[in-house]
Amino acid sequence: MKKIFLSILGLLLVFLIVVFSWFYWQITRQTSETILEDLDTKSLFDTRCGICHDGGSNGAPLVSALQLMPEESILKAMTTGVMQNQAITLTEEQKKSLAAYISQIDPAEKRNQPIKGLCPDDYTIDEQSANTKIDNWGMGYKNQRYYDKADLKINADNVNDLELDWVFAFPGASRARVQPTIDNNTLFTASQLGTIYALDRYSGCIRWTFQADAEVRSALVIDRDGTNRAKTLFFSDFNASVYALDLHTQKLLWKTKIDNHPKATITGNLSIFEDRLFIPVSSTEILSSVDEQYECCTFRGSMVALDKSDGSIIWKTYTIADAPKPLGNNKKGTTVMGPSGAPIWTGVTIDTLRRTLYIGTGENYTHPVTLTSDAIMAFALDDGKIKWVQQTMTGDAWNGACVTLFSRANCPENNGPDADYGAPPILIRSNGKDLILAGQKSGKVSAMDPDDNGAIVWQKQVGRGGTMGGVHWGMATDEKTLYVPINDRGLYDINGDIPKQPGMHALDVADGKLIWATIEEDRCPGLTLRGCGPGISAAITLTPDVVYGPALDGIIKAYATEDGRELWAYDAKRDFTAVNGVKAFGGAFDSDGPVVAADQLFITSGYAKYAEKEGNVLLAFKLK
Ligand code: HEC
Repeated sequence: MKKIFLSILGLLLVFLIVVFSWFYWQITRQTSETILEDLDTKSLFDTRCGICHDGGSNGAPLVSALQLMPEESILKAMTTGVMQNQAITLTEEQKKSLAAYISQIDPAEKRNQPIKGLCPDDYTIDEQSANTKIDNWGMGYKNQRYYDKADLKINADNVNDLELDWVFAFPGASRARVQPTIDNNTLFTASQLGTIYALDRYSGCIRWTFQADAEVRSALVIDRDGTNRAKTLFFSDFNASVYALDLHTQKLLWKTKIDNHPKATITGNLSIFEDRLFIPVSSTEILSSVDEQYECCTFRGSMVALDKSDGSIIWKTYTIADAPKPLGNNKKGTTVMGPSGAPIWTGVTIDTLRRTLYIGTGENYTHPVTLTSDAIMAFALDDGKIKWVQQTMTGDAWNGACVTLFSRANCPENNGPDADYGAPPILIRSNGKDLILAGQKSGKVSAMDPDDNGAIVWQKQVGRGGTMGGVHWGMATDEKTLYVPINDRGLYDINGDIPKQPGMHALDVADGKLIWATIEEDRCPGLTLRGCGPGISAAITLTPDVVYGPALDGIIKAYATEDGRELWAYDAKRDFTAVNGVKAFGGAFDSDGPVVAADQLFITSGYAKYAEKEGNVLLAFKLK
């Protein structure tokens, strides 16, 4: 018996050695300086790209998602985009042939084809026929994501009558994540290719488009004149530029690049106050760090205030005061730089009373850790001075090198769990007292006192937490109950001893006590590797008696605020016929949340970043 056991053990050892040597071989191949000129494109892909994109790296979209991108976007990712470091040793020729090899989209859908789905020539809009104004992502700059305007017709009694009305598909996209904003009859959104769309809200036909330089991820913010007419559209792109478009002429008024770090990006939602725009700056340097020859890391998060009339920078304040400097070498001899990180992924919350803005920060990328990572920070609106910092996780030094199978050289020692804030802090007034409510990827929700330097009023551990949350992109509140979406996908868990609690949770804002929780079961067993969990990573949206939770597995549900019972559900993992003729398919819900107005509900579907199901649609539902 013992002998058999030993020989099985022996075989197992041999197997493990073979597997490890294979990985080692891959590592050396992947990172070697030599250009693999004699490899054909398929082998080049397999060795240089497939190692992550065939499921080897959790943060990497699967090949099936990359195939939906046009050649030029794939090439751009390698030359100027997020894959620059991964493609650093490739020749221009190799990059081009890789892009051609990967892209599988119908040539008819290439970017420079004429736009299909334009509104008819005789299209006119009746300004009076609708009166809806949803100017920003947070449904107000307190980021409460609560909509109770007079036009709202959907409620707990009729939400089950919602039916799909029209579908718009973004050409050349594998994800759709720009939450619509609405001005009366017009809906504004944007795409992975950086196209801004002004759509007719009732039919989905295209009124006009505008081309930005890079992907747009945050909502397009509407600014109004003294008579409440939409005047300017402000938005940002993935290359850290901010744009102002004149809504009467659709002409660019100005464009400002707000951070010169090559890896700087903007995905958090900007806010307007008085004559200024406030923009959160983040970066993709966590990805560059995977390359062991990359000098990790030099990016610092920052808040920027722009003059909204001309885009000039009024102030810029870093989340880390000290500039990074060399701090020694990683295991491969590459210089390590720090302090770094504390990027801002969240939107910006405005406190007009205290002339203060609040944001949440992410982790440090390297040591030394700072007191400003994984924190809620308050900045003075007038001069950008940091008023206070409330850190809710200390010592979190982490970057992308910590989760790859290879090349962990840049992963900091004793690395932290990557417990960023992705969801903006929410400002509320409850029982005559202002509170800030903050939900973190760790699954912890904190209430803070804005009059006492963010002192903790209460804290509640709502879920287990992990790389995509815990709380990921956005909670909602009516100032009495706080609705907390929990993802708990089980990917790099943060509090492994706590049971996973994916679903919707309702807390009392006064003390954080749980009122109810609706925990969702796995609704696509066997598909979990494709990121098909029942958790809610996307932002949620609240109306007086319904809270809407769009889940990673492509199912959006309406829950009764009263007790969390399910009122309506829709599975978007399917093909659609789009009004603009583009091949249309739904997938995961992530990042942005639903928009509810009058008798309509809008939501984007498709997001392939963590191997969830890709998709390219904006869905419009309507009460039947
Ligand atoms: C170390 C792992 C890794 C390797 C190797 C790698 N990638 Fe990626 N790739 C990623 C991750 C992670 C992302 C997601 C980036 C993000 O959105 O933050 C990504 C994203 C992309 C994207 C999408 C960019 C976008 O705009 O969304 C493309 C295209 C891409 N990779 C192509 C490639 C090609 C081509 C190669 C081979 C030359 C390659 N990748 C090698 C990890 C990798």
